[in-house]
Formats: sequence, C-alpha cells, structure tokens
Amino acid sequence: MWKKWFGKSSIRSNEKILNSQIDRARIPEHIAIIMDGNGRWAQKKGMPRTYGHSAGVEALRQIVRTASDIQVKILTVYAFSTENWKRPKEEVNFLMKLFSDFLDSEIDELDKNCVQIRFIGKIEELSSRLQSKIEKARTRTMKNQGLVLNLAVNYGGRAELKRAVQIIAQEVQSGKLYPEEIDEKTIQNCLYTADLPDPDLLIRPGGDFRISNFLLWQLAYTEFWSTSVHWPDFTPGHFIQAIVEFQQRERRFGGLKRRKDTDNIK
Ligand code: IPE
Ligand code: IPE
Ligand code: MG
Repeated sequence: MWKKWFGKSSIRSNEKILNSQIDRARIPEHIAIIMDGNGRWAQKKGMPRTYGHSAGVEALRQIVRTASDIQVKILTVYAFSTENWKRPKEEVNFLMKLFSDFLDSEIDELDKNCVQIRFIGKIEELSSRLQSKIEKARTRTMKNQGLVLNLAVNYGGRAELKRAVQIIAQEVQSGKLYPEEIDEKTIQNCLYTADLPDPDLLIRPGGDFRISNFLLWQLAYTEFWSTSVHWPDFTPGHFIQAIVEFQQRERRFGGLKRRKDTDNIK
C-alpha cells in the first residue's frame, strides 16, 4: 500500500502524537482544501512561482496518502479556479502541464490504492488532450471503493451555480418542472457534487481567510480551519492537527448547543 508515496514520507513524532489524539470514530467524512500559497512559498526562496506549484504536488501526494490511511471518505482539492486564467500565460500553461503529468505519473499508484478520482469544474474548457486524460482517469477508477479524490480544476462556485440555474430553467421551460417545485434538493442535484455530502471541514493554507469562489453552496455549514503555512510546506501533521481541532468544535447548524439529558428545558 502507498509504496511509492509512503517511502517519501517520514512520520514525525508530533504527527504520531497528534495521530493518537484523533477520534477514529469521528473522522470528518468530507474534507475540502484550498491548496494556496505555492507562489509565495517559491518567491520567498528566490525561485519562480512555478517551482512552488511543483512542490505543491508533493504536498498533495502526502495528504492524499494520509487521508486514505485514516479513512477520510472524500477529499476535494482546489487546484485551479475559473479566475486563475487571469495569471500570466506561462504560469497557466505550466499548471496545465502539471495536472497532465500528475495524472500520468500518479494514476497507477492511486488506482492500486483504490482511490476513486473525480473532477469538478468546467472540464470542457480544458485542452482536448487534458480532457481525455481526465476522462481516462475517471473511468479507470470509477469503481474503486477507497478515498474519493475530487479534483477541482477550472472550478468556480459561481459558475457552478450559474450552470445549476440553467439546468433548472431548461427543465421549467420544457414543462418538466414547475417553479414552485424548486427546492434546495433541486439545486443540490444540479451541482457537480450532487451525490456527495457537503464538506465537514475546509482547510486553507497560505494565511488568507477567504473562500475564493470555492464550493459556495456546499460550504454553508462547513467548519473552517486556516494556517499561515504555505501549501508546499503543509504536512500530514498539519492535516491531522486540523482534524483534531475540528473534533473539538461544536457544530450547531443554526440550532442550539447539544443539551444534556439532565438539563432543564426552559
Ligand atoms: C495556489 O497557489 C495554486 C493555484 C492557485 C493554482 P498560488 O499560485 O495562488 O500561490 P500564492 O497564493 O500566489 O502564493
Ligand atoms: C484559490 O487561490 C484557488 C486555488 C487554490 C486553486 P487563489 O490564489 O486563486 O485565490 P485568491 O486570489 O488569493 O483569492
Ligand atoms: Mg493564491
């Protein structure tokens, strides 16, 4: 298991300590990550931004391995946003090549470890070569029962909602649906993540406190955890720390603090 990837990782002692603090019975089912800070990480080292993107792939490998080991069910990672096209052409091209190389080099190991690879975003706008690799990776792993690795590529939350509205409008126009029948489930069913539960935990490295157009609908009640550590320096130890802190939070979903049986109801 995880031969190629495991070999590179050294389980540090703080990771072991944190690992022991995790409540295995309450692992978040779905974790989302905004993999941010690659460019700043590289520039701090006097290197080009692209160097940071390459280093970010190694961080992703480690986190996928850890998520799979501790039996997280779904890991959704933000790799490229619908706004990232605004960047210099060379950086965009580099990133596209990196996705393509990632699929080539990692598919065997991911498949062997039963990872199911999925994609969310406007995949149809990517190059046809990349699209066919994506399709191959998706179909090859679609029956795998392990971690669902959801890669958000050319993804934008607003674009996803716009698409959902268009699908619903078409159903109304064709007479299949009455406007008053539209409920939250109708909208949910038209998202890329239709068959997935909402993320329990959102992790953002890189030090910023914003969503940057990620999973706008799905994050309604997701717990947010951020760190100033840049993505290439993000280790399994940080990942486990985020989960341990998540497990100490109280989620109320707009309700009240969980009542003990002995509390009086006023
Ligand atoms: C995240 O790192 C990767 C992508 C957005 C593709 P950045 O490239 O945004 O790195 P910073 O935030 O500029 O440091
Ligand atoms: C979010 O990071 C997108 C990804 C990590 C893929 P950005 O770097 O694009 O977000 P902003 O510009 O800081 O909000
Ligand atoms: Mg950034």
